[in-house]
Amino acid sequence: MICFIFVVLCGLSGSALAKGKANKTSSLFSLPGKVEREPKGKFSVPVLDVKSRQLVLEANQTLTIHCRGRWELSWVFPGGVARDKEIVQLEDSRCGRQSQHYCSQLIISSAQAQHTGSFRCRYSHRTRRQSAVYIYVTDRQRPFVEEQNNSPDLVYIKESQPLVFPCRVTNPDATVSLVKFPDRELTPDQRNIVWNSRQGFLIRSPTYFYIGLFSCKTSVNGTTHSLSYLTHRQVNKILEVYLNSTSPVQTLQGDSLAINCTVTAEWNSRVSISWDYPGKVNRAAIISRRIMASKTHMVFYSILSIPKLHRSDRGLYICRVTSGPVSRETNVSVTVYDRPYIRLTPRQGAIVEAHAGQKSYRLSPKLRAFPAPEIIWLKDGKVAAEQCSRYHVDGNSLVIRDVAEEDAGKYTILVGIQEHRLYQNLTLSLVVNVSPGIEEKAVSLQDPGSVPQGSRQALHCSSHGVPPPHIAWLWHPCPPKGLSGGTRA
Ligand SMILES: *[C@@H]1O[C@H](CO)[C@@H](O)[C@H](O)[C@H]1NC(C)=O
Ligand SMILES: *[C@@H]1O[C@H](CO)[C@@H](O)[C@H](O)[C@H]1NC(C)=O
Ligand SMILES: *[C@@H]1O[C@H](CO)[C@@H](O)[C@H](O)[C@H]1NC(C)=O
Ligand SMILES: *[C@@H]1O[C@H](CO)[C@@H](O)[C@H](O)[C@H]1NC(C)=O
Ligand SMILES: *[C@@H]1O[C@H](CO)[C@@H](O)[C@H](O)[C@H]1NC(C)=O
Ligand SMILES: *[C@@H]1O[C@H](CO)[C@@H](O)[C@H](O)[C@H]1NC(C)=O
Ligand SMILES: *[C@@H]1O[C@H](CO)[C@@H](O)[C@H](O)[C@H]1NC(C)=O
Repeated sequence: MICFIFVVLCGLSGSALAKGKANKTSSLFSLPGKVEREPKGKFSVPVLDVKSRQLVLEANQTLTIHCRGRWELSWVFPGGVARDKEIVQLEDSRCGRQSQHYCSQLIISSAQAQHTGSFRCRYSHRTRRQSAVYIYVTDRQRPFVEEQNNSPDLVYIKESQPLVFPCRVTNPDATVSLVKFPDRELTPDQRNIVWNSRQGFLIRSPTYFYIGLFSCKTSVNGTTHSLSYLTHRQVNKILEVYLNSTSPVQTLQGDSLAINCTVTAEWNSRVSISWDYPGKVNRAAIISRRIMASKTHMVFYSILSIPKLHRSDRGLYICRVTSGPVSRETNVSVTVYDRPYIRLTPRQGAIVEAHAGQKSYRLSPKLRAFPAPEIIWLKDGKVAAEQCSRYHVDGNSLVIRDVAEEDAGKYTILVGIQEHRLYQNLTLSLVVNVSPGIEEKAVSLQDPGSVPQGSRQALHCSSHGVPPPHIAWLWHPCPPKGLSGGTRA
């Protein structure tokens, strides 16, 4: 036996097989000289030394595959190998009579059940040109390729797509049954229920019957092994998408930003949430996710945070949500100020006018500031709201109800951002116009009676108004018994 193997190794003329474990090398090596022969098709795809489409090894055996081609080669491994890459030894060389070819040899010195799968050799720059061999690594202790901890895996039933229970096996001859909980065994009919040792059970058109708990079962040597799956019918129903900040966000450079996008969706919905934002190319944000299930629906959170804002982070932040073919989005704009500021100017000049008797008057200068400032209104140097109950502050404005003459004066708005020690003030002079009135008339019109001709008479008229009124006297003759004199003021 040992001698025979030695002969085979010699025959392979120095190919790298000779390493280690000579006793369990599998039979998949091509015969000596075979690799050298120029196959038909002139290497339009790389050529493997394995003639059949599949090979069966036992666990702990060495797997060796040669690949040869016209251009540089690369490999694609099954998931179980890709997860455990250091077990693979690759040896690349130039080969052929004038070293015109590329050769690559793959060795796994102790293949294991989880390495079961399709090994593909392809051209590095023409990756669609490839050759594949499916390797089964049998292990009596491990009939299924995948392992499961105690909980079943979730499998989604998608509309108009086959349902797959991915219980592929390490031995192509394994007999596997599909059981619906608790004990309904489903037999493959090769029409709707199809068994495939490389995929598992495939249900071509899953109906509501396939919602529930299923398991793939096989027994080896009297021991039953199983993998179980919980199926979910996938629905794509997004109920709501919202950000926790609906109004534009204003921040300062250097501050942190956090925006929370909340998505509610129907039970069994899967959603994917992504963000578009100005710093996306630099991956400026940290995105964290959470999922919560309530009795009636699912809630997904995606929180975007940027620990230290730059000017370049200002712009639109869009939370995009997709669930199957359905998609929704919402956005918020973010302004990043270089520094805190107060901009305070009068709306139309420093002198403003109101009328006595007006229902209300609003003193409102133009004010823009960040962060939000504190505001105090003074009238003639004293806090306005404490001086008169008709004064009240509304936002940035001071509102005067039932305007009276005494409201005239100097109004000062003090604007301050304490934490940044920023202060500004602006004084507006309010003039209250008062319509003139004639006071004598308000008391009683005194009839001066008859006066002697030629005597001096003084007629009084007092009037008050703001601004001070002009007084003009007019003379009318008395209609019945004419008054013979007149006076002008
Ligand atoms: C391989 O070697 C082991 C000891 O190293 C031996 O027990 C086993 O029988 C050998 N297998 C074959 C197929 O020769
Ligand atoms: C493979 O080797 C390990 C230890 O080296 C051993 O426990 C296991 O039983 C072997 N498996 C097979 C199928 O020979
Ligand atoms: C499993 O099979 C082997 C032979 O392949 C046998 O020697 C062994 O007793 C069996 N074990 C059980 C638990 O049946
Ligand atoms: C995200 O916002 C929602 C409300 O919009 C809130 O209920 C939830 O607790 C927030 N999540 C986190 C992690 O802050
Ligand atoms: C939005 O949610 C984030 C993360 O929970 C939080 O840090 C931020 O303060 C919230 N914003 C508002 C306006 O509530
Ligand atoms: C942002 O959202 C508003 C409505 O909330 C919408 O009108 C606007 O088109 C959105 N902008 C972008 C760029 O998506
Ligand atoms: C208003 O601002 C000026 C400087 O612009 C300052 O001298 C003055 O003290 C301020 N008045 C008040 C009441 O803070």
